[in-house]
Amino acid sequence: MWSVLTNDLGKKLRFARNFLRRRMVHVNLQISYNCNFRCGICDFWKEPYRDKGRLSAAEAAVIANKLNEIGPQIISIGGGEPMLHPELVPIVRALRPHHFPVMITNGSLVTAAMARQLWQAGMVEISVSLDYADPHKHDAQRGKPGAFEQGVAALKILHATRTHPEQRVHMISVIVDDNLDEVEPLIELSRDLGITYLVTLYSHSRGNQPSRAPAGDLSRRLLELKQRHRHFVALRGYLARFSAAAGRTDRSRCHAGHNLCNIDCRGMVSFCIDRLEHPAGNLLTDNLREIESRLLASHRANDCRACWTSCRGSIEAILYGRQRLLNAWDYHQMTRPVPLHGRF
Ligand SMILES: C[S@@+](CC[C@H](N)C(=O)[O-])C[C@H]1O[C@@H](n2cnc3c(N)ncnc32)[C@H](O)[C@@H]1O
Repeated sequence: MWSVLTNDLGKKLRFARNFLRRRMVHVNLQISYNCNFRCGICDFWKEPYRDKGRLSAAEAAVIANKLNEIGPQIISIGGGEPMLHPELVPIVRALRPHHFPVMITNGSLVTAAMARQLWQAGMVEISVSLDYADPHKHDAQRGKPGAFEQGVAALKILHATRTHPEQRVHMISVIVDDNLDEVEPLIELSRDLGITYLVTLYSHSRGNQPSRAPAGDLSRRLLELKQRHRHFVALRGYLARFSAAAGRTDRSRCHAGHNLCNIDCRGMVSFCIDRLEHPAGNLLTDNLREIESRLLASHRANDCRACWTSCRGSIEAILYGRQRLLNAWDYHQMTRPVPLHGRF
């Protein structure tokens, strides 16, 4: 198994080169929209998404090869709930030779056997969604009794079954209008579990969601928590823009379509995960270069300021933020090896 990650030097160097050249480095991939939760903040489990079918491992291999013409990508496997997909392990195996597969899960289907298979297949990072330290509130937000307990159990299993120190486990919370006070207890829970903590800002553009943007001095509070808790590994440059993003006063450019893009379970590519209705083409059938130039055209035409989710925010903080060295250091903390059977 060591070879799975240690032989990745060439891949890492190509990735670093593309990163420094500000090219495409991050892809969100929904392998199916099928979900066993009914989250109040997300529309992906509803019509019209849920009947879209699922991506096969063979199709994932085609996507992996085509994307490799641009260069190695961090491929964030999601959905729906990705662990419902019967071919999840072969999909990770198909992505791994050229890319860095990571996954976000609700944690409900994590078993020790499955976790081992995922790590052995070459998964680099797994984040489990937990939005409230109060189990009842989390279960209510996720539309699933027992969701909190399952998420915590998953974090323990995933951390204990890692097969290489470079494999990382994070807890991740969506910051909405009523959970800022839950963040510190969640950071403390992450510390007790030996893992690290991340946040992302709620986007109401995911379908037809009502606005649940948090108010107040979000950035100051989150940065102050980061200063006190080293397990809170979100980038400072990312957290610094939460208040402006939530208050809709952030005028900065979005780099979706330029440094990141989205692929759905049919291979349809769009510049943004919240803009699936504007595809740039199908990666399974269309020419990569044509898709790439349409993505860039979407990026240039895009003046959307609707979200500040971690997929774009972390990249943009490192590539375009004011304190790039500081953000690069924070990124190192987010990705650096953690000894097996050790704690962050
Ligand atoms: C769509 S989910 C798919 C993975 C998995 N089912 C889960 O719940 O973690 C991927 C991530 O997006 C987050 N998310 C869901 N709705 C969101 C929204 N409206 N704005 C921002 N993030 C959202 C989830 O909490 C999760 O961390």
